[in-house]
Amino acid sequence: MMTKNHIVYIIGFMGSGKSTAGKKLASLLDWSFTDLDKKIEEHTGKTIPEIFSQNGEDFFRSIETQLLRKFKSSTNTIISTGGGTPCYSDNMDFMLETGLTLYLKLTPAELKSRLSESKGERPLIKNLDKEKLLSFINEKLAVREKCYERSDIIIEGIDFDINLLLSLIKSKLNI
Ligand code: S3P
Repeated sequence: MMTKNHIVYIIGFMGSGKSTAGKKLASLLDWSFTDLDKKIEEHTGKTIPEIFSQNGEDFFRSIETQLLRKFKSSTNTIISTGGGTPCYSDNMDFMLETGLTLYLKLTPAELKSRLSESKGERPLIKNLDKEKLLSFINEKLAVREKCYERSDIIIEGIDFDINLLLSLIKSKLNI
């Protein structure tokens, strides 16, 4: 098998804890941490909700795809992606080729309770009430899991053992 770059892409639905896990892993590995959404905000000088409302989702997806490609030759880096990143363009193929992909898998019920607290900053769900939120999660996840499940590592639940995950990453990357 080809040796993968020292990049870990963290993948998963909105609210699955990608940034939190990414920061912990980066600090344990003494690697750098990048949040793709933050890069998009820096690049455009706008917040994610502003990009969606002023420029539309297609524009957001094209910037997302373009900025993701900038990590091609990065090393010792953890990247937390947006919930949609793997499912647009050929982003999932790109991540599988250039690094190690890690899917944080939560159930729709877990996602719903976490997302009810933080809907405001997420344009795709900000106008949904509790019932609509759950059906949105169910439908979107069913489609997106096809991309997510291609990941090299799949971790279930919120309370996983971070040290166990660290060992798994190290063994997959031969470090
Ligand atoms: C999106 C998820 C968001 C952000 C944008 C679109 C999605 O990232 O990229 O609002 O399509 O699921 P998080 O997963 O970090 O919330």
